[in-house]
Amino acid sequence: MNEIKIFSPASVANLSCGYDILGACLGGIGDEIIVRKTNKKGIIITKISGQKLTKDINKNVAGVSACALLKDLNYKKGFEIEIKKGIKPGSGIGSSAASAAGSVYAINELLGKPFSKKELIKYAIIGEKAACGSPIADNVAAVLLGGFTFVREKNDIIKLNSPINLAFTILHPQIEVKTSDSRALVKKNVSLKNMVKQSANLGAFVSALYTEDYDLLSRSMKDFVIEPLRSILIPNFEKLKQSSFKNNALGFGISGSGPSVFALSKGISQAKIIGKSFEIIYKKLNVNFDIHTSYLNNKGIQIIESK
Ligand code: HSE
Repeated sequence: MNEIKIFSPASVANLSCGYDILGACLGGIGDEIIVRKTNKKGIIITKISGQKLTKDINKNVAGVSACALLKDLNYKKGFEIEIKKGIKPGSGIGSSAASAAGSVYAINELLGKPFSKKELIKYAIIGEKAACGSPIADNVAAVLLGGFTFVREKNDIIKLNSPINLAFTILHPQIEVKTSDSRALVKKNVSLKNMVKQSANLGAFVSALYTEDYDLLSRSMKDFVIEPLRSILIPNFEKLKQSSFKNNALGFGISGSGPSVFALSKGISQAKIIGKSFEIIYKKLNVNFDIHTSYLNNKGIQIIESK
């Protein structure tokens, strides 16, 4: 195999009760990445479409993670990368994770899979660190493994039971929120009372995924720690929340570090109804926005074609 084209999906991190720990993979929205073998040693990014981003391999997250992978392999030649961005950077649905995971996944496939998908997380988070300053694994784990994922430690990732009838509604208000700025809003200390509440919800959330107990899942998707600090960044956050629950959402919260918000519901038709209600709220504001609905993507990153 000399060339591969892959689809690297968007993702939702945190899911209200699992800051930096929980992730979920989305369907239908993502980056397409083509990687070709070259005779010249090293990595080169030849083309980026869809968004204006640097082709500098030391700054572009796909280049950074690919270089980290190549450093650990005894490979004498190199690779060229083309990226078609389907996810807007800074949207909060894992734009950097899709690119950082995508390049290492594609190279690994071209080399006959020397690493497992879980082992690739170690390289993808080096790209994440270049994007936001921290090597966070929540988004890249969901991209690589699909479904719901859990980060016990960055080298101990668990794929959770992932009921595929669950669907997401994403509202992306087009305002700039940098992950590093959004992380700076989070306090360094958590009260014991909130630690107990948050860990109780996280445990119940994981249990609910396995028992497919959607009432419990809904009761668990609460955030006492991060959401109160970050929700001020998102116009009409409370209205969106109320509207999603009025329309039978199981959960609602900030997607990753924002500014996107997500609602989780049973079935795509419910997700679309929630999307309509978000549209009504946001049309009254002077803010451009995108709405996306998708089933939980249980497959994760996929090969489109290879030759
Ligand atoms: N868990 C991260 C955050 C999302 O909320 O800052 C980006 O990976």
